[in-house]
Amino acid sequence: MSSPPSGRLAIFPGSFDPLTNGHVDIVLRSARLFERILVAVLVNPDKRPLFTAAERVTIIREVFREYPNVDVDTFDGLLVDYARERRASAIIRGIRAVSDFEFEFQMALMNRHLEPSLETVFMMPAEQYTYLSSRLIKEVFSLGGTVTGLVPAAVEQWMTRRQGEGRPEQGRGTRKKEHQ
Ligand code: PNS
Repeated sequence: MSSPPSGRLAIFPGSFDPLTNGHVDIVLRSARLFERILVAVLVNPDKRPLFTAAERVTIIREVFREYPNVDVDTFDGLLVDYARERRASAIIRGIRAVSDFEFEFQMALMNRHLEPSLETVFMMPAEQYTYLSSRLIKEVFSLGGTVTGLVPAAVEQWMTRRQGEGRPEQGRGTRKKEHQ
């Protein structure tokens, strides 16, 4: 039998393009349950993100700079492989509504099939964030709506800067159900 993971590290994986206040809420709740939280940004070369994975890491580090038990990293490949490599004991996922549940349940069970010792812990964000998604944030912002109070101030600043840079239009018709 392999030795149990040390340090009660939980991984919070996702796209975080961009990080929302819903994500922040989940990280802070998780940080009360686990010794360390590792926010793991998926490097997905198929997508055309608003921010590169490296930029997302920089932004998220900025947001959690006062939380020594919150770390940020990128990963690619299978999440369970990354979790094994980091010796994590749990995966954190946020569930906002019943609509999130089916996909999250599938992922959790597939991850358990791949690595039975790794638990998925579902967390509910504060009610005021249950309607938030990174996709909606990007859409509202790109159409001139305000995202103040929905994303951390640092994220809003980065988005404003990116808009000023004249970001190329995102691929159309590539919308997928976004879970975070
Ligand atoms: O923020 P998102 O896009 O909902 O996060 C999805 C994420 C990154 C958690 C998921 O796509 C993932 O774990 N990708 C890594 C590849 C993998 O392990 N796939 C099998 C999952 S069962």
